[in-house]
Amino acid sequence: MGKLEIRGGIPLYGEIEIQGSKNAVLPILAGCMLGEGACVIENCPRIGDVEDTLEILRGLGCRVKREGNTVTVDASEAQGYKIVSDAAVRIRSSILFLGALLGKMKKAVLPQPGGCAIGERPIDLHVEALEHLGVVFARRIEPRPKGQDAVLIAASGAGLHGGRVRLRLPSVGATENLILAAVIGDGETVIEHAAREPEIDELCAFLNLRGAKIEREPDGSLRICGVKTLLPVTYRMRADRIVTGTYLLAAAATRGCIRIRNFPAGELDALLALLQRAGGRIRAEGTRLGIDMPDRAAAVPYVETAPYPGYPTDLQSPLMAVCATADGESRICEAIFENRFRTAKELEKMGARIAVEGRCASITGVEQLHAAELCAPDLRGGAALVIAALTARGTTVLSGTEYIERGYEDICRDLRSLGADIFRVEKTKSGS
Ligand code: UD1
Repeated sequence: MGKLEIRGGIPLYGEIEIQGSKNAVLPILAGCMLGEGACVIENCPRIGDVEDTLEILRGLGCRVKREGNTVTVDASEAQGYKIVSDAAVRIRSSILFLGALLGKMKKAVLPQPGGCAIGERPIDLHVEALEHLGVVFARRIEPRPKGQDAVLIAASGAGLHGGRVRLRLPSVGATENLILAAVIGDGETVIEHAAREPEIDELCAFLNLRGAKIEREPDGSLRICGVKTLLPVTYRMRADRIVTGTYLLAAAATRGCIRIRNFPAGELDALLALLQRAGGRIRAEGTRLGIDMPDRAAAVPYVETAPYPGYPTDLQSPLMAVCATADGESRICEAIFENRFRTAKELEKMGARIAVEGRCASITGVEQLHAAELCAPDLRGGAALVIAALTARGTTVLSGTEYIERGYEDICRDLRSLGADIFRVEKTKSGS
């Protein structure tokens, strides 16, 4: 297990380039299964979730090559429809292969994704919507030689057809699965109440570049006219908005001044508005965006996480870390995932004053946190603890860093380039 050692008290200063987007590249890699030829994905982040996705693609018979941050996926000879790799159990996003395999092979067998650290994460919306388009589901229990039997989802897409579906909630994963299942075929599919996250539009942009016909209607619905096939392309990933947000919040917490070189413009407006209210001076210059936080951040009176364009749930824990030393009382409500407040317990070990009541947390900012021995509860919670440690007196030791590596290419490299004193003290294995 890896650990990070972080000596706090240094304001972040400098300029940084952000890695490619995790949540956009995962459905795009699943989408490489569809159509013809080899797709080249540039600026593909080297993170645990991506490496697990590449392992799944290989297991399905794709030829996969990685050279630095460029990944080539050739699914021409892939005939697999059953995912057996352990990687699929490690990552929740393996569920996106459901849509891609239905689109390509008209059948799919894959592990039932379990609950995870941040909450239950059911797939009922994916199943209901695909059933509406003619997919038939069964549940299979497969005995395993050692340990627990595997629960598998078996789906038949022999009768897959176009249609109009309305999602009860604008689920990101369900929207992506529907797009992947419907993009190749005869019919027309309309997804009402589709998710509006930028990652959805990036998936559509990638598929449209390949010859798909997907449009966003004025009411936010997605209209997909099935096409015969998709062509090979080279596609460059946009910057990861959550990693960008994490570093902006780290700058705010340390009263620093940083510039993001490849800012994903328009994708973080809810965060920028909040940082400005907290006293941050935001400056946009072309593709760059800078934040300068000369004084202690002001508290955030109230924020509730919401689907895009609302405040992102993935930046809820990092914001809590900023509020821990903000001037005044902040209140944060989590409306998407129920277990995201486990970070509060760790922050309390550093002297933070947080009262959690149901899905809301009240945070009374203290002047300074102190170092402690901490354990990352999940991916974004881990990033939040790094932010808190950057502001704290003394040297914090943070374990559970394999979570952080699922989404951050090299958080030590990035933060050190901004002047932070942060080191990995043991070698870690990515993924979990
Ligand atoms: C994606 C992101 C994750 C982000 C989340 C919300 C990826 C790989 N992950 O996750 O980082 O935090 O969007 O922006 O892109 N729900 C159901 N039934 C379902 C599906 C979802 O009840 O069948 C609920 C979930 O429990 C949750 C809400 O809908 O409360 C949103 O989930 P969803 O948008 O599906 O998130 P993910 O796609 O899993």
